[in-house]
Amino acid sequence: MTRRVLRTAAAFSVNTLAAAVLFCGTPVSRSQSAGKSDPTFYADILPILQDHCQICHRASGIAPMPLQTYAQGRQWAKAIAGETESRRMPPWFADSRFGHFSNDPSLTGQQIETLVSWVNAGAPAGDPRDAPSPRKWDEGWNIPRPDRVISMTRPVSIPARGDVEYTYEIVPTGFTQDTWVRTSQVLPSSPGHVHHAVIYIRPPESKWLRRAPVGVPFTASSLKDPQDRHDAEWTDSDILLVYAPGSSPDQWPDSMGKLVPAGSDLVYQMHYTTDGKAASDRSAIGLIFNGHPPAQRVLTLQLTNDRFVIPPGLDDFRVEVHGTLPNDCTLLSFLPHIHLRGKRFEYNIVHPDGQIETLLLVNYDFHWQLSYRLAEPRQLKAGTELQAVAWYDNSSGNPHNPDATAAVHWGDQTYDEMMVGFFDVAVPAGMDKQRFFVRKSR
Ligand code: HEC
Repeated sequence: MTRRVLRTAAAFSVNTLAAAVLFCGTPVSRSQSAGKSDPTFYADILPILQDHCQICHRASGIAPMPLQTYAQGRQWAKAIAGETESRRMPPWFADSRFGHFSNDPSLTGQQIETLVSWVNAGAPAGDPRDAPSPRKWDEGWNIPRPDRVISMTRPVSIPARGDVEYTYEIVPTGFTQDTWVRTSQVLPSSPGHVHHAVIYIRPPESKWLRRAPVGVPFTASSLKDPQDRHDAEWTDSDILLVYAPGSSPDQWPDSMGKLVPAGSDLVYQMHYTTDGKAASDRSAIGLIFNGHPPAQRVLTLQLTNDRFVIPPGLDDFRVEVHGTLPNDCTLLSFLPHIHLRGKRFEYNIVHPDGQIETLLLVNYDFHWQLSYRLAEPRQLKAGTELQAVAWYDNSSGNPHNPDATAAVHWGDQTYDEMMVGFFDVAVPAGMDKQRFFVRKSR
């Protein structure tokens, strides 16, 4: 896996882990104590909305309407019942046959029943004194108040139309000491235009993009130096966080973190898409630091295959990649990235006897690039073979397919395809990404 995993797809995308904290701790519905009486908004519905919906359905959330007040709940009551019964909401795409994930926001059967019987009973308000205290959300952040927010220095202008080449911006952290980050979230200022963002960590000794300008946006083709131009698209730098619409923040326990060495820069790699209206974006990343240096360091690795051709018209085309782990590690989470023709994505362990153990199977939806954090992190030994498999629907039956007559290759734009299985591992705090890929001779 060394080479393939290490390389960064010119492309980009996403990551990370999880709104875990936000979704755990489902309160017991009080309807149980209310006996046979119908559920009410304040006593029974609002707690579910707070815990499972408001992370998106709130003022300044990513969903089109807030679900914070009785009036809002009642207005959307029928749709709430329909969307939750069909399990379209809250969005979650892991096949429940494989794995358990700590950021799974899915409702229990009983919670769905409560919502549906509330709607059937005419969506009664009940007594406001039964309401839980309102949940406080920081403006835009789904994480607690960040210790530091590092914004792009300059906003990027996005044209009304056409493809936009990947845009980079190098932003100094100003950190005078090594800094461990346990929680982070990317906040685009124009979320509708951000197809993905990858935030790389560039330590002071790194030669990556050294001749490129700092603090101003640039694209690979705007760089004069051929080495820089090439470098823009290939790096083995560690990733701080990957963002795509619907992706969740990174949230690690205090015993783990991502290391941002003293004097590092953050390199924003932004993929903007256009929607007919010119705009500008100045994305930011919010960071919460570990209380003290953690025992384990989190690295984001990837399984990538960029050598496929998806023939026109096929509706279930399979692409795979695999590699063996060079060192022991603890597997924490996954973030698959494919484009509009993507259908399913799977992570497996291939055991020495050939048996395949599926760790995650995602029924992929391009508009929801979620990360999947293992409820129980998995210890993996050096030599473990990991496999990622993607399936694509390049037929005219795929409503998202931009062109069912095209043979499709790897490429940055959404009408091209990608095949990247990001995954996060924890390693001893003293290990870095380069050393992780040094194989011990056995
Ligand atoms: C991760 C973000 C997220 C979460 C969590 C979430 N939603 Fe949504 N919801 C959305 C977005 C975005 C839309 C807009 C439509 C779309 O993109 O699918 C939406 C649309 C809806 C709609 C409108 C569908 C229509 O008819 O237009 C309803 C109703 C809804 N959500 C209810 C819920 C309920 C109830 C919950 C919690 C149990 C929930 N959602 C959790 C993001 C979310």
